[in-house]
Amino acid sequence: MTTISHGVGESPRPESSAVPGLLVGTAAATTPGVRVRDLTVVYRTPLGELPALGGVSLTIEPGTITGIVGESGSGKSTLALSLLNAVQPPGRIAGGSVEIDGLGDVVDLAGDRLRRARGRHLGYVFQAAQNSLNPLKTIGKQLLDLGRSHDVDDLPALVRDAKSLLERMGLDGARVLDSHQHELSGGMRQRVGIMLALVLNARLVILDEPTTALDMITQATILRIVREIHQERGLTTLMVTHDMGVAAEVTDRLAVMYGGRVVEHGPTMEVLGSPRHPYTRGLIQAIPRLSGDITQSRALPGRPPTLGTVPKRGCVFQERCPLRMEVCETVEPPSVIENGRTVACHAAEAARPAERRKEHA
Ligand SMILES: Nc1ncnc2c1ncn2[C@@H]1O[C@H](COP(=O)(O)OP(=O)(O)OP(=O)(O)O)[C@@H](O)[C@H]1O
Ligand code: SF4
Ligand SMILES: [Mg+2]
Repeated sequence: MTTISHGVGESPRPESSAVPGLLVGTAAATTPGVRVRDLTVVYRTPLGELPALGGVSLTIEPGTITGIVGESGSGKSTLALSLLNAVQPPGRIAGGSVEIDGLGDVVDLAGDRLRRARGRHLGYVFQAAQNSLNPLKTIGKQLLDLGRSHDVDDLPALVRDAKSLLERMGLDGARVLDSHQHELSGGMRQRVGIMLALVLNARLVILDEPTTALDMITQATILRIVREIHQERGLTTLMVTHDMGVAAEVTDRLAVMYGGRVVEHGPTMEVLGSPRHPYTRGLIQAIPRLSGDITQSRALPGRPPTLGTVPKRGCVFQERCPLRMEVCETVEPPSVIENGRTVACHAAEAARPAERRKEHA
């Protein structure tokens, strides 16, 4: 049996696992939900502090895989880092809260409590994690360091579980643990990153572009395994990706980001099947097609804003929007929630039947 000691607020799960090699008896009793409210993150720039997240609110339901999509610079990684309270200078969380069940508001966590929450409660793979391993130590040594820093009592069991996870992802576990990072390919390192995110059996797992260094076949396999492990362990998973195909395949719910805002959020199949925000529609139309009418894919005109060019007033998407109206230039559209879907767009709001608009006023 694995005997990782429990962190604050955790209680043991029954000591059984249908899958050999999976950690047992170590996780928090309940699958955590996450409530991000009015989160503002700014980066210091030569032009002063500018917001990369401008008051983001997002509820992540327990037990779901939520995808975050959006073009480069939309704030996906900044949001993922905020869930770990890991935004580094020149950035800082300037306002808002990130309530995680079992942990409280992580924006208020600091020092040892924060360090212990990361890894034990919050498993994560940073973007380009394949480049963030320690070049001087073998993967096995880094695994043991991780275990010791989180008071894991049974280190041999931790190693067994790590090997098993690596083997599930198609690698020779023993060999990988004996290797230094330079002996591994980018794709192998990325799988090491996923193993390290899962091995302490955190119940909230945050994966930022976890499979970008993998070829398409390996990517499909790894995503299938991530989904399997998510289900077996009863995790809540947040997956950042710029790939709409990955989002469609893996996620239950989808949040679409633009210019530091969540502009649309809802069940993945509904968001992709009947997108309500013009930006979501643009992203879907831009997906390259391999069959049918391959000329159908249309790149989104224009460029996404940078920190310095995000409109100061009105809708963040106004400069590229085919439906822009006068009000869009002056009034930021509020997020309207209806039937589990959230949309922030004046045109989407105007298209809703008047009766229902009144109900949600
Ligand atoms: N350290 C930093 N200093 C200044 N600006 C930053 C810093 N990190 C991010 N930004 C800016 O914050 C905004 C959001 O960046 P973020 O990395 O969160 O976007 P992203 O959606 O993850 O993009 P990508 O798809 O390229 O990973 C961008 O405009 C980016 O240039
Ligand atoms: S609020 Fe206006 S500019 Fe923004 S997406 Fe909707 S219609 Fe377009
Ligand atoms: Mg990113």
